[in-house]
Amino acid sequence: MLLLLTVSSVAQKTDKNEIKNKPWMNTGLSPDQRADMVLKELTLDEKIDLIHGQGMPGWGGPSNPLSYLGNGGAGFVLGVERLGIPIIQISDAAYGVRNSADNGRWSTALPSNLASASSWDPDAACQYGALIGHELRAQGYNMSLGGGVDITREPRNGRTFEYMGEDPVLSGTMVGNRIKCEGEQHVISDIKHYALNDQESGRTEVNVNIGKRAMRESDLLAFEIGVETGHPGAVMCSYNLLNGVYACQNKYLLTEVLRNDWKFPGFVVSDWGATHSTEASSAAGLDNQQPLGEFYGDKYKAAVKSGKIPMAELDEHVRRILRTEFALGLVDHPIKKEAIDVEADLAVARSIAEHSIVLLQNKNNILPLDHSALHSVAIIGEKADFGMISGGGSAQVDAPGPPAGWQAHVWYPTSPLKAVRAKLPNAEVKFDSGANPDTAAELARKSDVAIVFAHQWESEGMDLPDLSLPNNQDKLIEAVAAANPKTIVVIESGTAITMPWVDKVGGIVEAWYAGAKGADAVADILFGDVNPSAKLPMTFPRSIEDLPYPTLRVPPPGSMGDDSSRHPEKAHATSSIEYKEGQNVGYKWYDSQQKPVLFPFGYGLSYTTFAYSDLKVVNGEPAIVTFTLKNTGTRVGEEVAEVYAGLPAAADEAPKRLVGWSKVKLEPGQSKEVSVSVPAKYLSIFDEGQNGWKLLPGEYTFMVGGSSQDLPLKASTKY
Ligand code: BGC
Repeated sequence: MLLLLTVSSVAQKTDKNEIKNKPWMNTGLSPDQRADMVLKELTLDEKIDLIHGQGMPGWGGPSNPLSYLGNGGAGFVLGVERLGIPIIQISDAAYGVRNSADNGRWSTALPSNLASASSWDPDAACQYGALIGHELRAQGYNMSLGGGVDITREPRNGRTFEYMGEDPVLSGTMVGNRIKCEGEQHVISDIKHYALNDQESGRTEVNVNIGKRAMRESDLLAFEIGVETGHPGAVMCSYNLLNGVYACQNKYLLTEVLRNDWKFPGFVVSDWGATHSTEASSAAGLDNQQPLGEFYGDKYKAAVKSGKIPMAELDEHVRRILRTEFALGLVDHPIKKEAIDVEADLAVARSIAEHSIVLLQNKNNILPLDHSALHSVAIIGEKADFGMISGGGSAQVDAPGPPAGWQAHVWYPTSPLKAVRAKLPNAEVKFDSGANPDTAAELARKSDVAIVFAHQWESEGMDLPDLSLPNNQDKLIEAVAAANPKTIVVIESGTAITMPWVDKVGGIVEAWYAGAKGADAVADILFGDVNPSAKLPMTFPRSIEDLPYPTLRVPPPGSMGDDSSRHPEKAHATSSIEYKEGQNVGYKWYDSQQKPVLFPFGYGLSYTTFAYSDLKVVNGEPAIVTFTLKNTGTRVGEEVAEVYAGLPAAADEAPKRLVGWSKVKLEPGQSKEVSVSVPAKYLSIFDEGQNGWKLLPGEYTFMVGGSSQDLPLKASTKY
């Protein structure tokens, strides 16, 4: 090993000057031209090296003598050192860089992806991506596995926190902005899991059945917008089967839609263990197998040699990988590990959290809390003296300290108790863990205000049995609220929760998984130092009975079916799902079924109030929707002004869909004219016959307001 290292570093020294003068190092050429030049120089073995990974620590598979070249992340792809093509060092990076504790590094845990979607702020999504991009580079990585955007069809999905909610326009826009700014840091950005990996149970063995129109208008639209906005370097194909074919060998997904319709120029990488074949995957459009090369190593080489796979097909996969490395600057900006400015990144995490926390209920203006009027506060909830919980699985960003195992509950040392005490230096702020509801209620009774920090933990590799708070927390909240009606519940969750106590408490704040600075951000909201401005990116149903499927669709709950990802030769569908709600996911489903909900999509309160007036719509491409927004309260505030459209009568379409929004900051009393442009695609249906978007002729109703169920302005226009 020592000898190998010496030889390769000598080789590198000799090559560096020569490489600089190679024609493909000319940055004036396009990524495609540069990739073509390199491609011509490659041997068959070098090409094969580029189309598969070299293993993930702990994944199993044959031990690899080259593993010392890895950086400790999810894996790596060999470079071609003699030609100046770097190793692709890959890390998971959903809400921060994973595995930092393992490697003795620092990663900033941002609020969850779902929280980020709640800000409805594309600039904040950009900051989110930029932070992750630069922390990846600083730690020695040049490829991210973030960018999850499977839409929330199944709120019990254990990965809901890793995604961007239930609406394709919101989630596609937010993920696209994250990806764009992540890529600007010279990392290969990624969008995943393509497609319809909308629950974890049986994820590697479930066949998802859904029509083309339904998927193009829902899950695939989120990807389409994400790809066109963010230009990710890679698309990760998912574990599941779609309409009978595994996603990573699904020609419809990988070629017909991704390449032909969306003109995606980057490469397709398989989810870890989601490749099941050599020839079929290659022909369908899979470019890179991860984490190993069972199908894209020796077997692929043999298939090329025997003529079963044409060299041109292999070249196409290699070209896409190379052009992506050029396009995202991996070749021109080699990785340089460096220190992270921890304080600066924590400040970003805090600001994103402050824009992501949703105020759901504020009876009698119990919030913001008045510093001067409070003498005693009860802080109640498991670990609320210590920290706040985070989402698990491959998204997990380690908290400082020793690494936690797969599916451990990880709490960040961002202490709600300390954050509230810091706001109230002269009051008594006492803590009760809530383990015994009676003692917690007793403390609440003696306090001016009780704040319960409730949590619901989620992770990859599991689905929730239902949406209720675990560990008797509902009972705890009931007991505390009975003792003191001035009770505020702060929820740390990865998805919607049900709230049997909703009418009994004064305030409800959805903090999501709020990241490394969560407690400070929550305290800023509770005390009014920050005026809440976030809105729900998913519906909170009244009960799981109101979901399209009251019981999880894939038995047995909790099984990922990982046997088939680790033993891909055995893979086959063992269950199936018919997505009966079709394109009408989330609020579109509740609207079309006329089911009341607990809190609707797009809902969130502020400490000020807003009035909407003067709607005008000019149709065209794009349609321009203009209206006046006024801050009618007494505090400066930001409003997410939402625009929905109802289509001309069309079978299977919901009464309305989100088509745009604007987040606007206004001083008290200030008004502003707001314009939102709406691309024709967002008003269209997907026409399977013509394989394209089609604007139906007829009358369109535009609706504008502060939530999907509070739309005071309406105007119609004909197309
Ligand atoms: C997950 C991916 C992740 C990969 C590598 C898979 O189990 O589904 O999201 O990027 O592992 O850790």
